[in-house]
Amino acid sequence: MFQFILTLLIIIIFCYLILKIFLDIFLEKTPFIPTKTETISKLLETLEIQDNDVVYDLGSGDGRFLFQAYQKNPHASYIGIEKKLIPFFLARLKIILEKNKDKNIDQKIQFYRKDLLSINLSSASIIYCYLSPFLLQKLENKFLKELKTGTKIISCDFPLKIKPPLTIIKLDSKSSLSRTVFIYQI
Ligand SMILES: C[S@@+](CC[C@H](N)C(=O)[O-])C[C@H]1O[C@@H](n2cnc3c(N)ncnc32)[C@H](O)[C@@H]1O
Repeated sequence: MFQFILTLLIIIIFCYLILKIFLDIFLEKTPFIPTKTETISKLLETLEIQDNDVVYDLGSGDGRFLFQAYQKNPHASYIGIEKKLIPFFLARLKIILEKNKDKNIDQKIQFYRKDLLSINLSSASIIYCYLSPFLLQKLENKFLKELKTGTKIISCDFPLKIKPPLTIIKLDSKSSLSRTVFIYQI
């Protein structure tokens, strides 16, 4: 009986999450769909993060892009902006767990529960985003107004319209999710 209730509960939660993703897409919101680890690895091979870089992930989800980038260069600064409670909480939980091994991690990676459209981006030198085209469109004017010359913008799966990309990274993957990464420079 207990096993039946547990299975039913798992199925209900799974259906809810799938329905929520479709509803978010339908309502032109950006659902939490993480970037694939292999996509991040390939991107980080191209993107040489310097010690003085300030790297933002706009809509940082559970923070996986920033954690992976931090592994590559632990001297740069990493900032995640996430609106939804659950992914934000997961990212913060990872910081708490990692702090046992690495005392500096919470000074180098910071997560804020905010709307990405409400923050000033002038301190960024690298911006990563995996967002819906609707949200990217709203962000493009903000990029042009606030970003300093030389700032790199990386957009996963959806190109920006502000200018042609410097580089396009394409993964040889069957899934169409997080397969293409567009890199721009202001
Ligand atoms: C496709 S996921 C990408 C997550 C993460 N960047 C990654 O690559 O694994 C997009 C994230 O953006 C967040 N998001 C959507 N609109 C937002 C907003 N206005 N402000 C902050 N976060 C937002 C969603 O909650 C979701 O976690």
